[in-house]
Amino acid sequence: MKPVVDLVAGARPNFMKLAPVQRAVAALGAQDFRIVHTGQHYDAQMNDVFFEELGIPAPDFHLEVGSGSHGAQTARILERYEAHLLANRPDATVVFGDVNSTVACALAAVKLGVPVVHVEAGLRSFDRTMPEEINRLCTDAVADLLLVSEPSGVANLRREGVDESKVKLVGNVMIDTLMSQLPRARERAAAARLGLAPKGYGFVTLHRPSNVDDPEVLGRLVGLLHELSRELPLVFPVHPRTQNAAKGLAQGLAPGQERLLCLGPQPYLDTISLVSDAAVVLTDSGGLQEECSVLGVPCLTLRENTERPVTVELGTSRLVGNDLERIRAAWRDVRSGAWSTGGAIPFWDGHAGERVAQAIADRLA
Ligand code: UD1
Repeated sequence: MKPVVDLVAGARPNFMKLAPVQRAVAALGAQDFRIVHTGQHYDAQMNDVFFEELGIPAPDFHLEVGSGSHGAQTARILERYEAHLLANRPDATVVFGDVNSTVACALAAVKLGVPVVHVEAGLRSFDRTMPEEINRLCTDAVADLLLVSEPSGVANLRREGVDESKVKLVGNVMIDTLMSQLPRARERAAAARLGLAPKGYGFVTLHRPSNVDDPEVLGRLVGLLHELSRELPLVFPVHPRTQNAAKGLAQGLAPGQERLLCLGPQPYLDTISLVSDAAVVLTDSGGLQEECSVLGVPCLTLRENTERPVTVELGTSRLVGNDLERIRAAWRDVRSGAWSTGGAIPFWDGHAGERVAQAIADRLA
């Protein structure tokens, strides 16, 4: 009998990471796998559409946890995944990224003696006010195999004293998805459907608590987006968290505005189509920093720090925080062409999923 691994996902960014790993594990054939969906994200637009577009098989188990405070949501995942493990014990649990589902399933598994594999291990923003940083630290502390996307992750884990034999630089699985799906994404011509020319608009996403939970901060940022959109139209797919937070704002995020085009959450292929044709991206998403770096699109990262420093060192991202003057200055640099187009990033080559599958197989052999 082959060993069995659980591939666990729960929130939108997990799905793009799970897809290439699932395919590579299936192709290698060294283990059987089951897909476990925690249900952290549940709206069709945040969820089903990604499974369909990326060809991920339907989950074998669905824990249906839904939204909640961090404690409540994490606890619910922990409790339900533990029950699943007791009934259907795998030989390893594979978790992705840094969301609440990642840490909760890692904890449930390690407490039952099930080895934990963390894909995208070692990233550190050194900002403990970010929920994701806590998730990263806790997940890596209990993981048995730490698969890293960029060199900074290896250095961080070494500094934290993690046994080197557990750590492997495999590259970026989300970039596997980007590279394999880019031709299909381009066929979508999503900008043209909005009446926009390639490089004739900017693309925006905002969802981090530090940018959207305080109405004053969000109000300032939305005001700036309205201002910048008078120079260049902006396409803004609004995350549900941000949509909720924007309800009370005077200058809001209503659909139907001509220059600041607010849309609902977009499918993966439309997003990549829009990003690849954008003149500039303004975002607080870690994934978009990485995708822009590979696509060569200037990326203003509305954060004070990043757990993905390679996107600043070799890619196209610049940290601009949420200070309006810094954002305006960076915007002017992009508009005048004073921006790096980025270079190749080691191991972001479209084959990280295969290296993940091989590392898991070696570990379980
Ligand atoms: C989560 C991750 C974040 C990731 C983001 C990508 C954590 C701590 N955060 O943040 O790292 O970048 O996903 O999207 O895990 N909601 C819906 N429909 C859904 C899911 C959520 O409307 O399908 C709304 C709910 O009001 C919910 C809120 O969005 O309370 C926030 O959802 P949650 O999963 O708690 O965090 P995200 O902000 O999505």
